[in-house]
Amino acid sequence: MMKQLLLTTFPSLLLFLLIHSSQTLAQAPAPALALPPAPSGPTNVTRILEKGGQFSIFIRLLKATGEDSNLNIQLNNSNNEMTIFAPSDNAFSSLKSGTLNQLTDEDKSELVQFHVISSYLTSTQFQTVSNPLRTEAGSAEPYNFPLNVTTTGSSVNISTGLTNTSVAGTVYTDGQLAVYQVDQVLLPEKIFGPKAPPAPAPAPTKPKKKSSIAAPVSNTEKSSGTAVNFAMQNVVFLGVMMIAMVANFSSRQ
Ligand SMILES: *[C@@H]1O[C@H](CO)[C@@H](O)[C@H](O)[C@H]1NC(C)=O
Ligand SMILES: *[C@@H]1O[C@H](CO)[C@@H](O)[C@H](O)[C@H]1NC(C)=O
Ligand SMILES: *[C@@H]1O[C@H](CO)[C@@H](O)[C@H](O)[C@H]1NC(C)=O
Ligand SMILES: *[C@@H]1O[C@H](CO)[C@@H](O)[C@H](O)[C@H]1NC(C)=O
Ligand SMILES: *[C@@H]1O[C@H](CO)[C@@H](O)[C@H](O)[C@H]1NC(C)=O
Ligand SMILES: *[C@@H]1O[C@H](CO)[C@@H](O)[C@H](O)[C@H]1NC(C)=O
Repeated sequence: MMKQLLLTTFPSLLLFLLIHSSQTLAQAPAPALALPPAPSGPTNVTRILEKGGQFSIFIRLLKATGEDSNLNIQLNNSNNEMTIFAPSDNAFSSLKSGTLNQLTDEDKSELVQFHVISSYLTSTQFQTVSNPLRTEAGSAEPYNFPLNVTTTGSSVNISTGLTNTSVAGTVYTDGQLAVYQVDQVLLPEKIFGPKAPPAPAPAPTKPKKKSSIAAPVSNTEKSSGTAVNFAMQNVVFLGVMMIAMVANFSSRQ
């Protein structure tokens, strides 16, 4: 009973969340610059995100890739600066299902690093950055992972070539580290671009042994592409039948 209820309501709940998240995105609230007091002790990125309250999936990804300690170590050196675009849980739930699961460990690390800029960017600095920004992804060739930021009025837009979104709010700033909320996962072209289609189409059954019989049929049906295609299917079917019959015959010997 309970399960059934869940099964029927869950899809519409998902849809509601999806619509709702894109609505809040469209409203593009100006980044609020309310600064929570800096915690004492070394900066801890996951603790900061935990306080944000809606970054549990990003936190999980940071931990799974070991990027949480990597970033904390960088921040323990006060000469290092950092800006993190933290995707909210809504951002992750609006991804096509399986998007994260099909990534290799290396891709997951690079996806996380793609959300990190090695400099401290305030909302005024966003207006003067030169594009593309350098992210921490692609240690060898960082410009394989370009990220552009443009500002209109109080809205800070981010573009990866695959994702267009804007900064939805400020989570944390302390002069060294800035964390901004984004409501879409920033998808780098290097990982999600045309080279790696996310959903492989089901492979058609492979035609077998068509060469010998194919010639005469396609000669008579050359006029139209679909006709030839159809003829080829019949030829393949016949071929498979013949193989089966021969196999049956020889097995009866
Ligand atoms: C950072 O904070 C998280 C969550 O509060 C905690 O689990 C983790 O141990 C902390 N890491 C360090 C290096 O203190
Ligand atoms: C941070 O750096 C100091 C030295 O600058 C070191 O003593 C300390 O162990 C480091 N802390 C962490 C958590 O790496
Ligand atoms: C930023 O995004 C908003 C809303 O999506 C759009 O209206 C605006 O034109 C964009 N600005 C730039 C500079 O791309
Ligand atoms: C980013 O900005 C650079 C420089 O302006 C431009 O060449 C590139 O096409 C932009 N890419 C995207 C995805 O907006
Ligand atoms: C992102 O915005 C640019 C400029 O407005 C547009 O040309 C492009 O098609 C958009 N891309 C996506 C994936 O929405
Ligand atoms: C093989 O031949 C026998 C006898 O002709 C027939 O009963 C059987 O259905 C055939 N099997 C296949 C797989 O064609």
